[in-house]
Amino acid sequence: MNWLVSALILSLSALLTLDDPPAPRPASPSSQPAQAERPRPPQGPGGGERRISVEGAMKTMNRSLKQLKSQLAETSKRDENLALVNEMERGCVTAKGLALPKDVLERAGDEAAQAKMKQNYRAEMLTLLKSLISLEEAIGNGKADEAKKIIEEIQRQRDKEHKAMGVKDDE
Ligand code: HEM
Repeated sequence: MNWLVSALILSLSALLTLDDPPAPRPASPSSQPAQAERPRPPQGPGGGERRISVEGAMKTMNRSLKQLKSQLAETSKRDENLALVNEMERGCVTAKGLALPKDVLERAGDEAAQAKMKQNYRAEMLTLLKSLISLEEAIGNGKADEAKKIIEEIQRQRDKEHKAMGVKDDE
């Protein structure tokens, strides 16, 4: 009889642990069109809109780049240098997501030329982001020579794009 009781208890407890599995989250992004199609402006700590400009994000990148160049060879500063690249990446992503200022766009010319400038801007900022990721990897792996080359390439790209967009460089 004992075996029957244990068998009953076992099957009962098995039944009780068979909770409904958690409802699967919708896999298709098309189920959330409202969120995907309506990007929100960046929110500040108080929930308010923060005043971030392309210029401000560019200046963030510039500050970090200057410090990074001055201490790139110092292996003891690897973590600090990685943090500086992270700052540049943040500045890059922020600038990429912002609308170009009106005066910059107007320099392009008519509407078609402005649309082209916007498209080119996003593409170039993406290229920059990829270079920054390679830079982060190079520094993380202790490859100082490679890091130096990537920085030179980033500066060439910056100068070329600033020139093309009529931005005056401060260096
Ligand atoms: C690491 C690379 C870069 C750095 C350090 C950098 C730095 C800067 C700085 C310091 C400014 C402000 C200039 C001033 O008014 O004093 C600026 C402005 C600007 N940069 Fe960059 N830049 C970089 C890459 C780029 C790239 C790749 C593009 C284009 C795709 C770009 C587009 C612009 C534009 C459009 C402005 C004008 C913003 C405005 O007038 O409000 N920059 N950048």
